[in-house]
Amino acid sequence: MGKYVIAGNWKMNKTPAEATALIEAIKPLVKDAACDVVVGVPFIDIPAALEATKGSNIGVAAQNCYWEKSGAFTGEISADMLREMGVKYVILGHSERRTYFGDTDATVAKRVRGAIDAGLTAILCVGEYLEQREQGITAEICAMQTKIALEGVSEEELKQIIIAYEPVWAIGTGKTATAEQANEVCAQIRDVIAGLYNQAAADAVTIQYGGSMNAGNAAQLLAMSDVDGGLIGGASLKAEDFATIVAAAK
Ligand code: 13P
Repeated sequence: MGKYVIAGNWKMNKTPAEATALIEAIKPLVKDAACDVVVGVPFIDIPAALEATKGSNIGVAAQNCYWEKSGAFTGEISADMLREMGVKYVILGHSERRTYFGDTDATVAKRVRGAIDAGLTAILCVGEYLEQREQGITAEICAMQTKIALEGVSEEELKQIIIAYEPVWAIGTGKTATAEQANEVCAQIRDVIAGLYNQAAADAVTIQYGGSMNAGNAAQLLAMSDVDGGLIGGASLKAEDFATIVAAAK
């Protein structure tokens, strides 16, 4: 299906010096990767991460951005600022942003627009809470989040979108979705893309799975037909575990 992309989401971990050390450890382990490799670092670590990844096959992602280009928005970072630094990706709509920091489908859509306009690739996170899965509305929730975030995104601009299916109940819990559960929802999201655009666009879009993916379960998840990579939290903070996941993405 889509191009394989393995991205680490470091969340609020690692100082700049620690970021440099972790990237230096990761670099030799992933240099022959058959997939795209990305590290999603805290804003403050971006200069160190760009320096450490220079000339390597590792791209740098931010973990959020604001949608306005500039202005009186204390504490915010624009997509243009990220782009000028050399950042290529930005994680948007992560469930932790939605749950703890008030992000909504509408604000995620604005961030996606800002990221696209700045020339970044957005890693758009969607996923259901446990209660929603138990109510049997996982497909509807993921479809709604995907559709709202992609409103106004053209087929050409869709090339700047990676979708990460992250069931909230699997994040940081050690409770991974089964390979079948992950694949089922990734396939449903692909169908949503086919409906919004067309089948060729849907086949080309990268759809990652995220949620307690680790060195032990990655191969099985990544072998599924509709899982085109992973967004990795905890296991991306350990160079060897992250490299094992990268190696499983062929
Ligand atoms: P964990 O891999 O720690 O469960 O986190 C997943 C995640 O939220 C990636 O964005």
